[in-house]
Amino acid sequence: MTPATEASAPRTVQAADSPTVRPRRLRRTPALRALVRETRLHPSMLIAPLFVRPGSGIREPIESMPGQARLSPDLAAEEVSRLSALGVGGIMLFGLPETKDPIGTGASADDGIVQEAFRRIRALELPIVTIADTCMCEYTDHGHCGPLAADGSVDNDAALRRLAEIAVSQARAGADMVAPSAMMDGQVAAIRNALDAEGFTQTAIMAYAAKHASAFYGPFREAADSAPAFGDRRGYQMDPANGREAMREMALDVAEGADILLVKPALSGLDLIAAAHVRLDLPIAAYQVSGEYAMIAAAAERGWLDGRRAMLEAVTAIVRAGAGIVLTYAAGDIATWLRDER
Ligand code: PBG
Repeated sequence: MTPATEASAPRTVQAADSPTVRPRRLRRTPALRALVRETRLHPSMLIAPLFVRPGSGIREPIESMPGQARLSPDLAAEEVSRLSALGVGGIMLFGLPETKDPIGTGASADDGIVQEAFRRIRALELPIVTIADTCMCEYTDHGHCGPLAADGSVDNDAALRRLAEIAVSQARAGADMVAPSAMMDGQVAAIRNALDAEGFTQTAIMAYAAKHASAFYGPFREAADSAPAFGDRRGYQMDPANGREAMREMALDVAEGADILLVKPALSGLDLIAAAHVRLDLPIAAYQVSGEYAMIAAAAERGWLDGRRAMLEAVTAIVRAGAGIVLTYAAGDIATWLRDER
């Protein structure tokens, strides 16, 4: 006879021919799958990066980023209207200036390309957050993210003074938020002080807090014409091998007054997104960078994968890891797909 204790013991998952625990029950129909889905994308959590170039009526396709283009300010404003109508949460502008020089003067010019685009966008009064990438690499003739010291390295403290001027001019042109991406020590504090001193106390800072020196920025450097003329960015961007250092960079940016922390690249930084989500209580953003976008776009063009499914899967994974905000070149596409799925 079977002892009572044994008979009332919970059945285990081990029964070889007929399991009791069947996770597949909740995968049976689309309705069940939707009910238990843990991660949902919404257009309002997406930020679309845009490249702005001089001129008018110009849309210049970027070969290494299928579907993306350098836009003149008038067409950039039109594109922002389109994205806003789709419910996309924000846009971030990168500028391609007419001329470059050693200190990236164009980045802080009140009549600069990005400043002009912000003024046009602001005039439309759209319900979309406008963000400026705050850096010099598209504006310096040497392609580095700040003025150079005599030894050819980027002069950190000279870069801080420039970043402060750039952020103030971007705020003056109407940016809701500035996003310093130069990876200079102290850049968030320098920008916060400058913005506050000029009365821009409400301009938020999204800090590229953990930014690795990544091969995945390749297509961007073609798009923004910002490849360094010599050397690389390993003297200021982080070694992709380092995760604890990334956490330290993020903690520093919190202390300096960042409003949002950004991890970049996203897919190779999922561990950092997850750790930041648990350890830090600021909004966490992640940047699905140009190379992440281009890999999917290129494979889709060749018919090697389903571009739409792959893009949604990648961005969903970034959100699942803990990002509440995703910068992605596919923001408009994703917003369109989400609308179609309703
Ligand atoms: C500027 C900047 C870069 C990117 C964002 N801001 C280029 C770089 O650091 O080399 C890369 C974005 C992308 O690859 O999509 N410092």
